[in-house]
Amino acid sequence: MRSLSWFLAVALAGCSAQPFQYLTRPGAGTTGSVEETTAYYAAFTDHPAEPTLTEWLARRCFFSPGTTSYNPATTYSAFYYNGSDLGLGREMRCADCSKDPAAADTKLISCVVSNHGVPQGLDLIQFGQDQRSSISTALTQLEEFLAGKRPTRGASVAMDFHPKRVDKVRFYIYDASEPTLFFPGNSTPEALIPGLQLDGEGLEFNKGVKYIRNCLACHGGRYDADSNRILGSVFLDFDVSLFTFSDNPVFGSAPGTAKRATASAENLENLRQLNQLVRGIAVQTGHPEIVARIDGSYNAGGVADPRSKYVGGYVPAGWPDSQVVRQFDGKNITAKSYFQSVVHRYCSTCHFSQSAGNNVTQIDANKPLTFANWEHWFNNNNFKDGPDGLDVIHRDVCGAAAMPHAQVTRMNLLRDSTALSLICN
Ligand code: HEC
Ligand code: HEC
Repeated sequence: MRSLSWFLAVALAGCSAQPFQYLTRPGAGTTGSVEETTAYYAAFTDHPAEPTLTEWLARRCFFSPGTTSYNPATTYSAFYYNGSDLGLGREMRCADCSKDPAAADTKLISCVVSNHGVPQGLDLIQFGQDQRSSISTALTQLEEFLAGKRPTRGASVAMDFHPKRVDKVRFYIYDASEPTLFFPGNSTPEALIPGLQLDGEGLEFNKGVKYIRNCLACHGGRYDADSNRILGSVFLDFDVSLFTFSDNPVFGSAPGTAKRATASAENLENLRQLNQLVRGIAVQTGHPEIVARIDGSYNAGGVADPRSKYVGGYVPAGWPDSQVVRQFDGKNITAKSYFQSVVHRYCSTCHFSQSAGNNVTQIDANKPLTFANWEHWFNNNNFKDGPDGLDVIHRDVCGAAAMPHAQVTRMNLLRDSTALSLICN
């Protein structure tokens, strides 16, 4: 595996000092700056951004009254590794103020995800860690933290939603706990910071800091420089089929600790409740592809039904099995199987968050590239740089290394020769 790791590291990092490219599309080649992100936070005059994560949690219904313990009546938590976006162990917590009768604002919903382990792309490039050891180290650190055996965690990224605001969804970044603070110059543990290193771009730790606009690459939306607000973003669903849990025999954490980041009934039930919360938000922000994926991923009475279980393999109605999209190896490939082998794993997490009027690369701003149907992929004339969608996809995936637009997602595609051939050959 080491030789593949080094091949990938070289292929992904490039040899010369190239400008950053991952997560920069919503910023037209940049993720913003310290100044821009500071101005962004300063615009939250109705509810100023709290200077530390503990204060952020305290003012958003996470804690039982008068304590710093999570309130089970308002807080939802789940633990896992997501190896298909940034490659980190995830300690996910959301709080719904409508469940707190004493809340100052019952319409506020907030989520924060604290990261554990080193982003897989950075781990590979800086430390030569192969995928498997990077994942199991992250899961081990997450489990140790949850068991109270490890006091430290990485940076936390946070979002909130309020239906009455112009910018319904807001983003926040909080630094790691001591001793390894991330943001250059910051000396306060878990303090509000303008950016962080999310992958191995820049080749060294903190040479590739990404500012607030990076969030839009996956969460959708656009930065409105006139008002210093981010408009049109959404919370993303919990696509359990892409997660790795610590009871996974191949990638799981080292034995020894009672595990919580497992595929246990409890963790899966918590993910259902989180998906129910995200569904409610995606309805209000106008992201029907995300709503449909959540609806299509639960059996029984849907995501709102406590009896429902998660079912993987969701394919949008726009990718039917009756439609042949191409020939490959002498066989017909149907839209459904193309979606399952390529689009789901490598593209739809980000592209489902695109929405009308909020994306810069379309000729027709009202036709976001959600890949909600097969014509979007195979017959699309709405992009500035190519005569049709297939040509633009070829250029971005097979030529320019621009898509998938996150380093780890792209590393995964480069390891998957079938999917790569289905796109590029
Ligand atoms: C590479 C893609 C990617 C980037 C970049 C990204 N996120 Fe996310 N984020 C996700 C995905 C996917 C989820 C859904 C849960 C999961 O899969 O782990 C998510 C979930 C979240 C959640 C939980 C609420 C929800 O949407 O489900 C928060 C909070 C969050 N992200 C904050 C941020 C912030 C703040 C930034 C920018 C600093 C950011 N994210 C950048 C992919 C990304
Ligand atoms: C990490 C998030 C992410 C992933 C994964 C991703 N994309 Fe994108 N993609 C974006 C963003 C952001 C844009 C720019 C949206 C805009 O116009 O504002 C974009 C734009 C595009 C465009 C429009 C033309 C252009 O170059 O801007 C194409 C084509 C595209 N993506 C193809 C793909 C394909 C194919 C995949 C999967 C193999 C994929 N993307 C995976 C985030 C992503």
